[in-house]
Amino acid sequence: MAKVHASNLETELSLFKYGHLEQLPPAYRDLEEDERTERIEAAREELGDDVVVLGHNYQRREVVEHADFVGDSYGLSKRAAETDAEYVIFGGVTFMAESADVITDDDQTVILPSMEASCPMAGMAEALQVDAAWAEITDAAPDANIVPVTYMNSYADLKAFCASQGGLVCTSSNAHRAFEWAFERGDTVLFLPDKHLGENTAYRLGVEDRIAEWDPWDPEGKDPAEVADADVILWDGYCQVHERFTDEHVAAIREEHPDANVVVHPECRREVVEAADVVGSTSTIRETIADADPGETWAVGTEIHLTRHLRRWHPEVEVLPLCGDACMDCNAMRQIDPNYLTWVLEELAEGRERNVIEVDPEEAELAKVALDRMLEV
Ligand code: 13P
Ligand code: SF4
Repeated sequence: MAKVHASNLETELSLFKYGHLEQLPPAYRDLEEDERTERIEAAREELGDDVVVLGHNYQRREVVEHADFVGDSYGLSKRAAETDAEYVIFGGVTFMAESADVITDDDQTVILPSMEASCPMAGMAEALQVDAAWAEITDAAPDANIVPVTYMNSYADLKAFCASQGGLVCTSSNAHRAFEWAFERGDTVLFLPDKHLGENTAYRLGVEDRIAEWDPWDPEGKDPAEVADADVILWDGYCQVHERFTDEHVAAIREEHPDANVVVHPECRREVVEAADVVGSTSTIRETIADADPGETWAVGTEIHLTRHLRRWHPEVEVLPLCGDACMDCNAMRQIDPNYLTWVLEELAEGRERNVIEVDPEEAELAKVALDRMLEV
């Protein structure tokens, strides 16, 4: 493999918080799938074990097909922590690549093929905003013992903030264990940023009677001392892909397909989760369909690419999108275009690093504490 040196091909776009956003060169924009596959395979052959490609379950088929491991956020973090590869190419969104950078060793490099892959929900809880809310709540209730728990879908600075306040990170597959961990250490959980996952987890643990919401855009609307007295404080963030599902969609599916089962992601609203048969992370959704008997019908309430993968992977099961044509893809995940994957791999084979994710070292040290706590619960 050629000697690698960092590139400095910056553009004026500043959508991304790292301040550099390298865009796809024109020569890569219209590749045909056959040619692209050949080129990806050739670059991977040349790079060998130096590179591992990780892909989230929501990635496009043309990315998933080239991944060494495809999984949910938790599985991907574990893989990132375990790999010895010098380069981790992350088919996912910024917060996932950041976490991989935090978890991997200093001599490993994480590449996010397109820097535009930023999850809007992660942007709904900015660390500065959370810090201000924290000060307001803890000033009003100095004796309160609050433990912050942030969903993986948040930026590294918020993960670092949670670690600094004795908290941790969780994903959709271990939120209940993270809550239990927090309740062993405090009286109140402040959960960020997804109010639906937070509420669904509170119900799962039977602590739904004393839930308060904190709307960061209307802090005046709340009495911080009253909020601090709750068991669970929910930050007012949400995923627009999952908020779209309603209990009416579940009722309509059951009416049209009386034998249908329903599996949904816990980012869905409370009433959708209540109406479903199974709720779980994207990997639980995959396992549920993999374990289904031939001929069973399952309606899936999550991002549409995963539903399409499930149809392809399990043609013996009837897999339906829970809200039909209204089911959405995730605009952030979609930014990982397979042409970008081709580009970053070919550049790496030529000794050039593109779109490297590098979390500030001080922030990374603390964020790692919060992530390690998650990996241990
Ligand atoms: P999972 O952790 O279940 O893969 O979910 C990640 C995500 O972003 C869901 O919207
Ligand atoms: Fe973020 Fe929702 Fe996309 Fe998941 S599906 S990455 S929560 S926008």
